[in-house]
Amino acid sequence: MSKSFYVTTPIFYVNDAPHIGHAYTEVASDVLTRWHRQRGENTFLLTGTDEHGEKVLRSALGNHVSPKEWTDKLVTESWLPLLETIDIDNQDFIRTTEPRHKVAVQKFLQQLYDGGFIYQGSFEGNYCVGCEEYKNDGDLVLGTLEFAGVKVCAIHSKPVEQLNETNYFFKLSDFQQRLLDHYEQNPTFIQPESARNEVISFVRSGLSDLSISRSKERFDWGIDIPWDQNHITYVWFDALLNYITAIGYGVDDEKLNSLWPADVQVVGKDILRFHAVIWPAMLMAAELLPPKQVFGHGWLLVGGEKMSKSKLTGIAPTQITDIFGSDAFRYYFMKAIGFGSDGSFSWEDLSARYNSELANGFGNLASRTIAMVNRYFDGVVQAPGEYLEADLRVQRVAIEAVTGAEAAIDKVAIHDAIAKSWLLVDELNSYITQQEPWVLAKQESNNERLATVLYTALEGLRVLATLLNPITPKACKKLWGAIGESIGELDSQSVTNAASWGQLAPGVKLGELEALFPRVEEQ
Ligand code: ME8
Ligand code: MG
Repeated sequence: MSKSFYVTTPIFYVNDAPHIGHAYTEVASDVLTRWHRQRGENTFLLTGTDEHGEKVLRSALGNHVSPKEWTDKLVTESWLPLLETIDIDNQDFIRTTEPRHKVAVQKFLQQLYDGGFIYQGSFEGNYCVGCEEYKNDGDLVLGTLEFAGVKVCAIHSKPVEQLNETNYFFKLSDFQQRLLDHYEQNPTFIQPESARNEVISFVRSGLSDLSISRSKERFDWGIDIPWDQNHITYVWFDALLNYITAIGYGVDDEKLNSLWPADVQVVGKDILRFHAVIWPAMLMAAELLPPKQVFGHGWLLVGGEKMSKSKLTGIAPTQITDIFGSDAFRYYFMKAIGFGSDGSFSWEDLSARYNSELANGFGNLASRTIAMVNRYFDGVVQAPGEYLEADLRVQRVAIEAVTGAEAAIDKVAIHDAIAKSWLLVDELNSYITQQEPWVLAKQESNNERLATVLYTALEGLRVLATLLNPITPKACKKLWGAIGESIGELDSQSVTNAASWGQLAPGVKLGELEALFPRVEEQ
């Protein structure tokens, strides 16, 4: 079996319903996966939910239900529907409460225990339940308002709790040098560059061993430690393993090997250290390869702070998709915020980009081109005549757009892949303005020229449908329904060959075009 391109999202805590920050990670991961599929690769996208631990337990109890009832309800009513809302094409969805996960986590723990990587010890420190993490002094800041004068978690702005426990430890400190060597030998293992530098300096400053169990005397919502029934597994140790328990670790080596190591693990920068330090060390201890890349993207901010479930500052994705649709959601967040940087959502910006870039830029280009083929040639694709400089220029821009977008995707610069693709949208719009097919149509003698111009525009649209399908799949399928059906399925069009000219066959009758980006009423 050849290796598939394997992309993962974090698995999200089901302490509450998702907001646009979670949707953002999902969309980016989905775009990357779809893009690679469009290159002809086998692809696999995994997402899911992180259901154990104190944070989820407390939110369940706060709502007067058992954690199992709480997580079942949220997963069914909120987290699975999110994938529909933003059009995610995932191949699997893992919940950490599933037996397939629990069994494999225990197997992994036992393997590390038998290998001497786990020992019993005691620990005292500051714990943030929001992060489910022990905090160093450097991770704390002075609180404000109700917590003025108190040290609080820099991410959750809430006081930490003092914990003193006897539990099991993973010998993370043993891996300091191996990790540093790995970062050095694999310069793109952690991206973007700022994230990589942050992790390297953190690891250089020294690693402590990691407490990986919790005493059941405190709470028991977790996976039993296989050799000690009085302890459950620390939620992060349990959660990180989802990336391999979902793909057959311990039960199906063939599947595991066809997917692991993951090609890109997309996470928010809040959880980068877990993925770039603890996770590869766990894998090294189990003699598995680290993922090829961990990408720590930026935050969607509200009032300068990370939008958050815990702080109740979230915007529900449906608030946006109900008005603008899933394609606009996907396009907006991937285009407006450089992938890797923080950004803020604004209704004004979304609405402006929807109108100018999607509806007028792309949608109108498609509808007027097809309308002209309908009007002047009864909807039949014409053979082009001799290509002039302006037509050849369109072909060159198509190559530039495809090559540029492909290179951007290799760097996980999704915003840049869209910008490069848009070179062709803009070029085609000015091409049509300059060629004035409506003027050519006035004289019979211009017929061949008119055919060439409209063929060039249609071919440009064909390239765009292929190139933008990972970003705005619904609109591209509509466009393909009008121009591309006779070539084959859109999802199997090679993005790599998209700019090779002349794939639309003359003589084919175009289909109906539904508006790609319908007008949105002013609210
Ligand atoms: O950390 N902007 O889950 P979580 C951008 N269960 N992305 C955001 C965001 C924002 N404002 N808010 C959340 C956990 N995210 C663990 C992960 S993985 C083995 C376990 C996204 O529910 C972003 O991807 O707190 C971030 O890293 C993740 O949600 C955190 O989700
Ligand atoms: Mg969080």
